[in-house]
Amino acid sequence: MIPDEVLGPPAPPASIFAELSKDDLDTLVSTFRRRTFARTQTLVEVGGPGGSVFLIESGRVRISLPGSEGREVTLAHMGPGDCFGEMSMLDGEPRSATVTAVEDTVVLEGTRDDFMRSLEASPRIAMSLLIMMSQRLRAANDIIESLSFLDVQGRVARFLLDIAAKSGTETAEGISVALPYTRQEMANIVSTSRETLTRVLKNFERLKYVRLLRRKVVILNAPRLRLKTQ
Ligand code: CMP
Repeated sequence: MIPDEVLGPPAPPASIFAELSKDDLDTLVSTFRRRTFARTQTLVEVGGPGGSVFLIESGRVRISLPGSEGREVTLAHMGPGDCFGEMSMLDGEPRSATVTAVEDTVVLEGTRDDFMRSLEASPRIAMSLLIMMSQRLRAANDIIESLSFLDVQGRVARFLLDIAAKSGTETAEGISVALPYTRQEMANIVSTSRETLTRVLKNFERLKYVRLLRRKVVILNAPRLRLKTQ
């Protein structure tokens, strides 16, 4: 790990609070301290004490809730520029979810006092936080809808179509999508076991809806997959 003195004072991650001016961003993170976490390390534990907020400088984390028998549901993945830990900081309740590094991750951590001061001083920072929380509520609504109304085939189909819409590239064969997730991570996102996920993916492959490659999938028949989500 590179010592903080060599890296200099924290610079705000590029996409954080996209609406903010550079001055607002610099003010926000000027008192934050940089921390490094190795892959699989837990940054925040559900039920634990709050009191600080984190901005991701580099790496990737998973936000999850534990279930029974070692199962868990993934609520979100976050990367550079994203912020987490704001909920318990705002409402004073314990941490609402567990946050785990899925890659080596560097974060900027700020105390509640630092963050509250920034919120009080800058309506733009407060507004950015509200926008971010609205977007998270929308994403949470999508998860509730999927779990309530779709079976596991529908959830896998929706997951593949969503990720294709965000990051797929059109090829002669179909839409090629890199999968930055392990099979277990994908299973957690669609709230099923790894075995069931594999069975559904193999079935989609047999039906020629998709072609599976290592860490990649080609969507051959998007209309058929879409039917599974209705
Ligand atoms: P906090 O409760 O302090 O600690 C866990 C963090 O996970 C929480 O703040 C949010 O930043 C984040 N989090 C909790 N639930 C969700 C969700 N549904 N979607 C995205 N992020 C969440």
